[in-house]
Amino acid sequence: MKLFLVVICLFFSANTVGNENKQAAIASAHPLATQAGFEILEQGGNAFDAAIAVSAALAVVEPTGSGLGGGGFWLLHRASDGFQTMIDGREIAPSAAHRDMYLNQSGELDKRLSLDGALAAAIPGVPAALDHLSKKYGRLTLKQTLAPAIRYAKQGFEVTEHFQRLANFRREALNASADSQAIFLRSLTNNQVPALGSLIIQKQLAKTLEQIAQQGRDGFYQGEIAQKLVNSVQQAGGIWTLKDLQNYQIKERTPISATYKGYKVTSAALPSSGGIVLTSMLNQLEYLPLSVAAPVQRQHLIVEVMRRAYFDRSQYLGDADFVQVPIQQLTSKSYAKELVSDIDVHSATSNKNQPANDNAKGEDTTHFSIIDKEGNRVAATLSINYPFGSGFIAKGTGVLLNDEMDDFSAQVGSANAYGLVGNQANAIEANKRPLSSMTPTFVENEHRLMIIGTPGGSRIITMVLLGILDFIDGKDAQTIVSQPRFHHQYLPNKVQVESIGFNTKALKKLQQRGHEIKLLNRQYGNMQLIIQSKSENILSAASDPRGEGLSLVQ
Ligand code: DON
Repeated sequence: MKLFLVVICLFFSANTVGNENKQAAIASAHPLATQAGFEILEQGGNAFDAAIAVSAALAVVEPTGSGLGGGGFWLLHRASDGFQTMIDGREIAPSAAHRDMYLNQSGELDKRLSLDGALAAAIPGVPAALDHLSKKYGRLTLKQTLAPAIRYAKQGFEVTEHFQRLANFRREALNASADSQAIFLRSLTNNQVPALGSLIIQKQLAKTLEQIAQQGRDGFYQGEIAQKLVNSVQQAGGIWTLKDLQNYQIKERTPISATYKGYKVTSAALPSSGGIVLTSMLNQLEYLPLSVAAPVQRQHLIVEVMRRAYFDRSQYLGDADFVQVPIQQLTSKSYAKELVSDIDVHSATSNKNQPANDNAKGEDTTHFSIIDKEGNRVAATLSINYPFGSGFIAKGTGVLLNDEMDDFSAQVGSANAYGLVGNQANAIEANKRPLSSMTPTFVENEHRLMIIGTPGGSRIITMVLLGILDFIDGKDAQTIVSQPRFHHQYLPNKVQVESIGFNTKALKKLQQRGHEIKLLNRQYGNMQLIIQSKSENILSAASDPRGEGLSLVQ
């Protein structure tokens, strides 16, 4: 298998490919997932079938980022009638969850409880979402579309540096779960993570996938697997019930739509904050002289709109099935005009600061982009939250559970793992969806289309913003995914900057304007992008050089 992979990678080493014929494109975070998608397209599947295959393959070969035990958002565009929708397969809080469940007896937040182990896991949405995608939008059966993932689970995938680094980072949580230790730290000798190139085989996960292939969602949410999931979670101190699993429902949501400089932007709806925050930032930028601004001035203005949009995120956003969110207002141009009215073009707006976690994580979670020959498209961002989610595999199922409960604001004003603060709108409630930042997005005008998204926690939305600005400026796919990144999220009151790519002079100038700069010691994000030039019918695709993904046009 290794030789095969090397050949493929060499063949497409530029990672950006264009072609004039009717072709399809897939960009994903793992070569085997991209190949799984093409395998399904070649069998006559459409982009939605391919999305099922890619999602399931990633669940097997990229357990650091997503999986059957997690959730996600699949943004769809159907070519035949232009219909667009978002499949919301976000996890929901178990019915026994409550606002103060992660506070200790003295009322302090115990951060480990919402990150590590079974109590951190919300009820997964991925199996239900794949079943729904297949039934409503696909052409092939789940038996066909899940076949590549089942094969990968049985045959194994090779340990990469990315896997090693994150297994190391999450070693404690993985070690605390017998099945996780056996599967992911199997070849652990002298307490080392598995060797580069060694195979991770997941026989039980293959069986669970086979159950879903045969029975659809019932193969996961009912019967033997469901029973095992619940038993194992409860034994480890979690609160799942069989009813929670049976009751899980995906939702189809109308995507958030925005316009920016003549482009139509279609993005994730609540319970993702992505579309609303992105729209707010774009709307604000329409009132600012970005195109004539010198580079530092441009960064200053972009930071100021990020600050304002993330402040609103922390104040107003949560699961709209539970709380009233003023979506109309937050995404309106007139409101954006008000927001920018107090931007000082020369200096940073002051806002309070507070200590918050601003570690440079940001490759876990996963995004993929697909377009098929007919023009059907998918932008999907999927997650189990932290690297390897909660670290907990439910005994006998091979299913690694998420720790998406940490995306709630477990205590008003306390930062979560991504430094995000929230208030009542995103407080924990039974059956509620935690607020997300995942931002699968389409951007288009009559000439050009971009399908974009990335992992990166709270920084996802600003990465997508920077990608959109670059696309509109005419940059190509490979340049867009490679660009150096910067980020502001209101709290902490710092501009977070990738140290590779920014010159110190420019950063000094930003500092002189009153911005506190936090130089990150690691890069972040793993963007997977497709661009279509509609008039010439040329596709190009690119995978972020920070990751190990593969993009193909063929
Ligand atoms: O839904 C969210 O916003 C988070 N669970 C995403 C986490 C993530 O992107 C991790 N990657 N760095």
